[in-house]
Amino acid sequence: MAKTRVAVLISGRGSNMAALIEATKAPDYPAEIVLVLSNIADAGGLDTARREGIDTAVVDHKAFGKDRAAFDRAMHELLVAHKIDLVCLAGFMRLLTPEFVGLWSERMLNIHPALLPSFKGLDTHKRALEAHAKVHGATVHFVVPEMDAGPTIMQGAVAVRDDDSESALAARVLTVEHRIYPEALRLVAEGRVTVVDGRCLIDGKPVPDAGTLMPPA
Ligand code: GAR
Repeated sequence: MAKTRVAVLISGRGSNMAALIEATKAPDYPAEIVLVLSNIADAGGLDTARREGIDTAVVDHKAFGKDRAAFDRAMHELLVAHKIDLVCLAGFMRLLTPEFVGLWSERMLNIHPALLPSFKGLDTHKRALEAHAKVHGATVHFVVPEMDAGPTIMQGAVAVRDDDSESALAARVLTVEHRIYPEALRLVAEGRVTVVDGRCLIDGKPVPDAGTLMPPA
C-alpha cells in the first residue's frame, strides 16, 4: 500500500522531526516524510533533513509582514505541490490562520510539551515546576484554530522530581515526545484514529491504553 505522505513543519533544532524520520525507516511504517518546511532559513533541523535526503523548503514569515493569510497560503501551495496527506507540526512556532487549519482539518498534528489542557503556550516546563505539578509530559493532538487545543491523540507522562530543574525536566519530557510522536503518527497514518465529538477514538473505541505512555520515572 502507498505510504502516507507527510510534511514536517519546524522552526528550530528539529529533534522531534528527527525522531519521526527515524521511525519512518522501519519498512512497515505507514508514512514517509517527503518535505520538511521551515519559517526560519537557518533552522538546525533543515540540515538534518537534507542529510537524510528529504526535500526542504523555507517560507520566511518575515517576508509576509503582518499578512498571516498570505504566509499560510504560500505554505499550503507547497504542501499541495508535494501531494502531502498529513502535516506534523514539530516545534513550529507560528500561529496558523483558521483558514489554513480548516484546510488541514484532522490532517494536521502538533506536539506540545505539556499534558494538555494544562500549560498551553510557552515555558511549559518552568510553569509546571512553579505550579508544583507532580506529573508532567507531552501531548500529540490534532490542530484546531484555538492554540494548543484539539483532540488528543496520545499523551506521555513523566514524574516531576522535587529537585528538578527546568532543563532536566525538559530533557525527560523530550524523550517522551520522541516516543509518542512517531506512535501517534503511525496510528493516524494507518487510518485508525477517528474524531467523534472532539475526542479521538482508536480503532473506533474510546480511551484505549494505546493513547497513553507512562514510562517509569
Ligand atoms: C518541542 O519540545 C516541542 O514540543 C515544542 O518545541 C520543542 C521543539 O523541539 N513545541 C512547542 O512548544 C509548540 N508550542 P524540537 O525542534 O527539537 O522538536
